[in-house]
Amino acid sequence: MSRVATKATSALKKILMVRPTHFEVVRYSINPWMDPVSKPVNRELAMAQWTTLKETIEEVGGEVHVMESDSAQDWPDIVFAANAATVRGNKAYLANFLHPERRGEREFYKAWFEANGFETCGRTDIAFEGAGDALWCGKNYSRLFAGVGPRTDIRALPDLAKQLDDGSGFKVIGCKLIDPRFYHIDVAFCPLSDELALWFPGAFDPVTQHNMKNEGVELVPVTAEDAGFFSCNAVVVGKNVIMNHTTTRVAKTIEKIGYNPIFIDMGEFIKAGGSSKCCTLQI
Ligand code: ARG
Repeated sequence: MSRVATKATSALKKILMVRPTHFEVVRYSINPWMDPVSKPVNRELAMAQWTTLKETIEEVGGEVHVMESDSAQDWPDIVFAANAATVRGNKAYLANFLHPERRGEREFYKAWFEANGFETCGRTDIAFEGAGDALWCGKNYSRLFAGVGPRTDIRALPDLAKQLDDGSGFKVIGCKLIDPRFYHIDVAFCPLSDELALWFPGAFDPVTQHNMKNEGVELVPVTAEDAGFFSCNAVVVGKNVIMNHTTTRVAKTIEKIGYNPIFIDMGEFIKAGGSSKCCTLQI
């Protein structure tokens, strides 16, 4: 619970964040959390929450790279950097957004990756939503847990495996998402290390639940209530787990497995259906 954090001791964690210059929930709703009429965003407060997230990551030893978004006024959700791409080494497999409301973000991310030394790839004919739907876990990060259904088309998976192949022989595991509130895998599954993760099992169909349990990862469940506070959407830096305010039950769970929970307010972003992890991309 403490804000007194232990600095990350493992390799420096590089994280991309996008400044929420034009963030809003006004023109569209593409998930059950978004309601432009009754839950408009306070952009000033959003900027303050985003800054707190950034500073908290830096305090615990994360290295944050900021992508500016001044000319992305037509793409308010671009703040959700998790959706930009899935990264392995210096290769970024770019998102191809399902909804036209987010499709234009790709060009901005592509330009950023290319200007920062990454090779980009990714198709434009099959829906795929980046690290929002593809998370590395399993021994030596040899598994890519990919959410399929709501946003990512299962046909993207073989191409991901092919394009990101670096000779290490990683395996892609398709995870079927069944609850509209948990429309990306990163709101229901949160790797803490290569062999430990938080998850909300109810977001996945029974076959997927079974498969996920068989990849050598210890899965620590959170309740539906906790998942509703975005407790599976945390930024992990070393032993620090940064997430939106939630129940004391989650705090105790995280402490019990040897991690340090840090709670911040991500309320303005939750109005768009995302929390701390959605605002970041590990690069
Ligand atoms: N409004 C955005 C959308 O519906 C939120 C994205 C949240 N990002 C995430 N990685 N879960 O696409």
